[in-house]
Order: sequence, then structure tokens, then C-alpha cells
Amino acid sequence: MNWLNDNVNMLALLGAAAIILITVFVVAKYIKQMKEDKSTGELAEENWDGIGEYKNELPIGWSLAFLGTIVWGLWYFLIGYPLNGYSQIGEYNEEVQKYNTKFENKWANPDEETLMGMGEGVFFVQCAPCHGVTGDGINGKAADLTVWGSEAAIVDVILKGSKGLNYPLGEMPAGLLQGDDAKAVAAYMVEKIAKLGKSKNPDLVAKGESLWAVCAGCHGQNGDGMGGNSPSLKNYGKPEFVVDVLNRGKAGNIGVMPKFNDGRLSDIQKLAVGKYVNSLSQ
Ligand code: HEC
Ligand code: HEC
Repeated sequence: MNWLNDNVNMLALLGAAAIILITVFVVAKYIKQMKEDKSTGELAEENWDGIGEYKNELPIGWSLAFLGTIVWGLWYFLIGYPLNGYSQIGEYNEEVQKYNTKFENKWANPDEETLMGMGEGVFFVQCAPCHGVTGDGINGKAADLTVWGSEAAIVDVILKGSKGLNYPLGEMPAGLLQGDDAKAVAAYMVEKIAKLGKSKNPDLVAKGESLWAVCAGCHGQNGDGMGGNSPSLKNYGKPEFVVDVLNRGKAGNIGVMPKFNDGRLSDIQKLAVGKYVNSLSQ
């Protein structure tokens, strides 16, 4: 017959037979023992409805194992799990950190072109959802970055004020100056404070200088922000200013821009996207 030639099958059948035999033998042994055995030893005082209990020493192996379990339990609860325990989040964080270090080392000294490319990449992922792919602010939902950082934007800030960067001085009030006065101060700021190059209204620069006192009260005579009480206008229109905005967040008239200081972007990425943003208004 076929199944008799199958070695594996035979082995399984023999094993099953052996298990049955051993079981019968062991059960028979215990039944016999229960019938015949007379225990000796000292009975404990307690007695539960006629059922007594012998005073037996704890088996040494069992006692040691019991104590060992308690010690191990304490170690695991206090040290083993909290300090050495595996955690998926921990592994994820370690991997992110490792990758970030690699990233930072690789791009420690990027050239201009690399920075610009990196900035564009960051912008499309992190900023475009609110500011639009072209940076135009999607119909005023977020700042129009094709203007922000330019001379025109300074005029806009003077007319409309600014809030949400969380400087000690709080909000900048709207309407400090109007019309040509606002344009003049913007021209002066572009040429002499932020030093962004030639103003579009060069003939207004001198007038702007005479009006600068309106701004100097909060931003300082040289525009440096008076030790962090207000933004440094020396950096206005430069990547450093964007980095500052990213670290502080910004509340606009329509929405709120979150802070980007939670490690989402490395310092080099912030600088890169700052460069990219500034290139939009030039
Ligand atoms: C009462 C104090 C005060 C005065 C006066 C003032 N500013 Fe400001 N300015 C601030 C503060 C505070 C901020 C930051 C506001 C914020 O949180 O966005 C600011 C922000 C700015 C910004 C950056 C805006 C942005 O988009 O990030 C510019 C540019 C600026 N001020 C220009 C001026 C000019 C030009 C004048 C003079 C006409 C002036 N400020 C007068 C307090 C002042
Ligand atoms: C959740 C939406 C959102 C995201 C994402 C976002 N922003 Fe903004 N951003 C805003 C809003 C809202 C304002 C304020 C608009 C206003 O002044 O009315 C703003 C303002 C700005 C300003 C002008 C700040 C000032 O001082 O006036 C800059 C620069 C800027 N964002 C850059 C960025 C960059 C760079 C990124 C990507 C790293 C980014 N934003 C991501 C919503 C966002």
C-alpha cells in the first residue's frame, strides 16, 4: 500500500502511537499513586471542613524562580521598558535625525544655484498650498509674495499696518503716513535702510529722510529694530527677513501662517526658500 511507503506519514503515526502509550502509562501511574500513597509529615493548624494541609518547605528551585521573576519585573517596569523599550516613534525619529544630519552635511555650503533650486522645491511643497504656485497669494488668502519685500510692499505696510509677527511692540498701526509721504519713506528705506538698490522714486528719497522720524520711534534711527523690539528693517527684502517670518509665524487679515520653527525645515532650507521668495518680487 502507498501510505506505508511514505516515511513522513509513518513517522507521524508512530509519534501519535507513542504519545497515546505514554499518556496511558502516566495516567495509570498517578491513579495508582493516589490509591496507595500515604503522606507523612506535620499538618498545619488550619483545617477547612476536614481538609488539612501539610507543612512543606518551598522547593528551592521554585522559590528562586519566583524571586527572580519579581526582581526582573521591577527592573523591566522601572528601567528595562522605559529606557530600552523599542518604540516605532523612536525609530522614526532616529531615522529622520540621521537623514537630516546627512542632508545638512551634504548641503553645508551650497552654491547660489543649488540654494535657489532647493528654495523652489521647499516653496512648492510647504508654501504654495497657501501662497499659490506663482506666489501671488491666491486672491489675497495669504501675502502676495510677488510684491512682498519690494518698495511697493513697504508703501502697502505703511498704509495698512502689520500684525502677527509677535514682536514686543505688538502691531504696527495702519495709516501712519499717506500718499506721497508714504512713498517717500518707502523710497528712503529702500535706498538707505534696507539698501536694496535704486528706488523707483529717487527724487522722493530726501523727503523720506525728513519723515523717517515717524518710523524711527519703533524701528530705530538706523532701522535695526531697537534690540528686537520690532523687526529689523535693515533685513527687509532679504532672505534673513523671510527666515525671521518663518520662525515667528504671521497672522494676516485673512488667515494665519504657522511657525516653521519645529524642525520641519533646516536652517539651510529656510535660507533657501527665503532667497526664492525674495526673487519673486525682483
Ligand atoms: C508704533 C510702532 C511702529 C511704528 C511707528 C512703525 N512701525 Fe513698522 N513695524 C512695527 C512692528 C511692531 C512691526 C511688526 C508687525 C507685525 O507683527 O507684523 C512692524 C513691521 C514693519 C515692516 C515689516 C512688515 C512685514 O510685512 O513684515 C515694515 C516694512 C515696517 N514696519 C516699516 C515701517 C515704516 C516705513 C514705518 C514708518 C512710516 C514704520 N514701520 C513705523 C512697529 C512700528
Ligand atoms: C497655512 C497657510 C500658509 C503657509 C503654509 C505659508 N504661509 Fe506664508 N503667509 C500666510 C498668511 C495668512 C500670511 C499673512 C498674510 C497677510 O499679511 O494678510 C503669510 C505671510 C507670509 C509672508 C509675509 C510676512 C510679512 O511679514 O508680511 C511671507 C514672507 C511668507 N508668508 C512666506 C512663506 C513661506 C516662505 C512659506 C513656506 C515655507 C509660507 N509662507 C507658508 C499663510 C501661509
